[in-house]
Amino acid sequence: MELVVFLLLLLQMFGSADSRCFCQVTGDLDDCTCDVETIDSFNNDQLFPKLQTLLESDYFRFYKVNLNKPCPFWTANSHCGLRDCAVMPCSPNEVPEGIRSPSHNKYSAEANEQLDDCEQAKHLGAVDVSLSEETREALLNWSKHDDEAERFCVVDDEESPDSQYVDLLLNPERYTGYKGPEAWQIWNSIYEENCFKPYTVKRPLYPNPFQSGSGGEAKTFYSWLEGQCVEKRAFYRLISGLHSSINIHLSARYLLDDSWFQKKWGHNVSEFRQRFDSELTAGEGPKRLRNLYFVYLIELRALAKALPVFQQPSFQLYTGRPEEDRKHKELLLDILELARSFPLHFDETSLFAGDEKEAAKLKEDVRLAFLNISRIMDCVGCFKCRLWGKLQTQGLGTSLKILFSERQIEALPTSSEQRPSFQLSRQEIVSLLNAFGRISTSVRELKNFRSLLAEER
Ligand SMILES: *[C@@H]1O[C@H](CO)[C@@H](O)[C@H](O)[C@H]1NC(C)=O
Ligand SMILES: *[C@@H]1O[C@H](CO)[C@@H](O)[C@H](O)[C@H]1NC(C)=O
Ligand SMILES: *[C@@H]1O[C@H](CO)[C@@H](O)[C@H](O)[C@H]1NC(C)=O
Repeated sequence: MELVVFLLLLLQMFGSADSRCFCQVTGDLDDCTCDVETIDSFNNDQLFPKLQTLLESDYFRFYKVNLNKPCPFWTANSHCGLRDCAVMPCSPNEVPEGIRSPSHNKYSAEANEQLDDCEQAKHLGAVDVSLSEETREALLNWSKHDDEAERFCVVDDEESPDSQYVDLLLNPERYTGYKGPEAWQIWNSIYEENCFKPYTVKRPLYPNPFQSGSGGEAKTFYSWLEGQCVEKRAFYRLISGLHSSINIHLSARYLLDDSWFQKKWGHNVSEFRQRFDSELTAGEGPKRLRNLYFVYLIELRALAKALPVFQQPSFQLYTGRPEEDRKHKELLLDILELARSFPLHFDETSLFAGDEKEAAKLKEDVRLAFLNISRIMDCVGCFKCRLWGKLQTQGLGTSLKILFSERQIEALPTSSEQRPSFQLSRQEIVSLLNAFGRISTSVRELKNFRSLLAEER
């Protein structure tokens, strides 16, 4: 019964018969005339495959990040010792042999028994920072190039000795076993303390860990949200969309089988339903999915707008292999042109468009809140989650930076002698494209879940 209702809702939401404007869910912001089908086919058939190829290139797979910053807001006390374990490797006898040496894929049955949940979470959440000697050397050369080319502003964090390169392909975003109160605290502080929401307005939570949720809560919340200005509403939807994307990844790369002879990752439909089924979430799920499409449109818009930055002849995706670098730049431009060709763009000119002084203040508020959220990422106990959290907030932040720098981008000089009026660092470029890659993958995964749900029927 439940399933039928859910499928009906899905059909209502995604069915091709119903091509109502998907974005028209919350009023003002919905100046775009887009529907889900257009986004789906644009993403799944055209953009996603190209983006996937690009993100596998060396330029985009190595992301420099500082995973060792202390949490600035609270002392994290993880029962599991997740954090300690990944900063300072566990002493060898703490970790079963099979896990210590990843090349060793036959775990002894005995070792496997020691693998309680906590150990499992440590292992799954750890970041693999191994790079070949050759790569390490090449990366040194790249950053020299970046500095000399003056194309990239140096972000403090990149210079910190604690920052290190991480190979994103070795560390896919997937289920890590990181959940429970600590993970909950992260999202809670983002929503409660950084989304302009007064404490008196309660967020609808299903299932609510503290009390049984009442319909009234949701009503109060959404009428509060409706009363907010476009910018703050957009901010909330971006965060919610990001949250959805992360949850889709965890459900799509769930650790299904963890036996001694294999680890199998794949779709867990029941996990997906728990997070997005309209019935199981009292109607919240479909809203969360809509917000995913909202982030998609915002980031897509930013990519389209950034095209001139990457078109500059002096811009290179430098890895020191000219032939490959040229090929990848072509592919990147191809992707950005494709983004630009998307007909139903979100119109960001309605943002920060009010009274000039008020708009500037609002923009600053949004910027600060966003900055704060990126600092909260340092409180994420699971290192793999922290890695992807930082990358995705930085990517989204870079998108916003682009969207609100339209004039500077238009004013880019045509000759390379002049100092460019707008620049992106390598770290920003890598995070921008990889963050969008996550959202694009989530949109693609929704299609997979839809067919899995149809099979279940
Ligand atoms: C780094 O650059 C130097 C000089 O340009 C070159 O000789 C060396 O082969 C480069 N190393 C790598 C690993 O690309
Ligand atoms: C930043 O986030 C923390 C943790 O949620 C919160 O306590 C603090 O008030 C926020 N600061 C600002 C300036 O928003
Ligand atoms: C799928 O996720 C649920 C939790 O939502 C879990 O109880 C179940 O064991 C998972 N299924 C598999 C095959 O791992």
